[in-house]
Amino acid sequence: MRIFSGIQPTGEIHIGNYIGAIKQWIKLQNENECIYCIVDLHAITSDYSPEELKESIINTAIVYLAAGIDPERASVFVQSEVKEHTELCWYLNTVTSIGELERMTQYKEKSKAKKKRANAGLLNYPILQAADILLYDTELVPVGEDQKQHIELSRDIAKKFNKHFGKTFKIPKAKLPEKGARIMSLKNPKNKMSKSGKKGNAISLFDDPKTIEEKIKSAVTDTDNKICYDPKNKPAISNLLVIYSEFKNQTVKESEKELEGVSYKIFKEKLTEVLVESLAPFRKKRKELEKRREVYVEEILSRGAKRANALASSKIVEVRRKMGLIN
Ligand code: AMP
Ligand code: TRP
Repeated sequence: MRIFSGIQPTGEIHIGNYIGAIKQWIKLQNENECIYCIVDLHAITSDYSPEELKESIINTAIVYLAAGIDPERASVFVQSEVKEHTELCWYLNTVTSIGELERMTQYKEKSKAKKKRANAGLLNYPILQAADILLYDTELVPVGEDQKQHIELSRDIAKKFNKHFGKTFKIPKAKLPEKGARIMSLKNPKNKMSKSGKKGNAISLFDDPKTIEEKIKSAVTDTDNKICYDPKNKPAISNLLVIYSEFKNQTVKESEKELEGVSYKIFKEKLTEVLVESLAPFRKKRKELEKRREVYVEEILSRGAKRANALASSKIVEVRRKMGLIN
C-alpha cells in the first residue's frame, strides 16, 4: 500500500507526535511504500522566523531518522522541494467550498487564538494537505486524532474532483492508533499535548532523564489512588496509563493488571523509568546524526525529493489533462 504522512517543522516533537504518528510510520514502513514529508509550506501559515525554519527542517529530518524511520525503506523529503504540491493545491482550491474550510476545528482554534485576523493560508491549509495526500495516490494516512477531520476533507475533495473530471484520485483513509490517538497535556488532561502548549505539558523525544523525571513528577493526577483506564472519570491517570502502555509495548489491560495496587507515586517512578529507557536510544542516534547532518541527512532528503518528484510530476500531468489545461 502507498502511505503518506507529514509533520510540520515547528517546535519540538513530543511523545504525542510519536505515539499518534511516528510509531505507526515505523511499523508501516516494513510492508508498504511509505512517503514521509516535512511539511514546511504548512509551517509558514503560522508566525515563524525564516532563519529558524531552515534549521527546523533539518532537525525534523533528524527526528524522523533518530526515531526509527529507515531511509532505505521510506522516502523522506521536504514538501517545498516538490513544486507539484503547491500546483495541485491551487487546482483543488477550485473544487473546495469556503464553508467546508471554515468548519475545520484546527482553523477555528488557530484563527481564534490570533490577535489579528487569520491569513488565507491558514484557511486553505487543509487543501494543501489534501494535495500532499492525493498527489501520491495515497491509500493510508497514519496520523493522530486531531488530523482526522482534515483527512475526511481530503476524501471529500478527491470524490468531488473525480465526479467532476473523471476518476483521477484514490480515496485515502486515515489510520489512527487504537489507543494514543490523542495524548493529553501532562498539565491539564482536558487539553491535547502540543508543541505550543504550556511549559511541561509535553515530553520531547529528546528530553534528558532529569527533565523527564521533573515533568512526570509535576504531571497532574486524579483523586483516589487507583490506577485504571477510565478517561471520563480519571482523565489524567488514563492518559499516563496509555503513555506507559505505548512505551512498554503492551495493552492498557496488561498495564492495569501489572499496576494493580500500586500507588500513584510508584507508578510515576515506573513511568519515568520506562520513558528514560525508551527515549535514550533516540537521543544517542540524534547525536550521531547531528555530526552527519550536512552530508548524510541532506543526501537522504535529496534522494527522497527525487523519488517524490518522479511520482508527483506524472500525476500532475494527469490532473492537468483531466482539467483541460493540456491536451
Ligand atoms: P503536528 O505537531 O501538528 O505537526 O502533528 C504531527 C502529527 O502528530 C499529526 O499526525 C498529529 O495528529 C499527531 N499529533 C499531534 N499531537 C498529538 C497528540 N497530542 N496525540 C496524538 N497525536 C498527536
Ligand atoms: N496538518 C498536519 C499536522 O498538523 C501535517 C500534514 C500536512 C499532514 N500534510 C499532511 C499529515 C499530509 C498527513 C498527511 O499534523
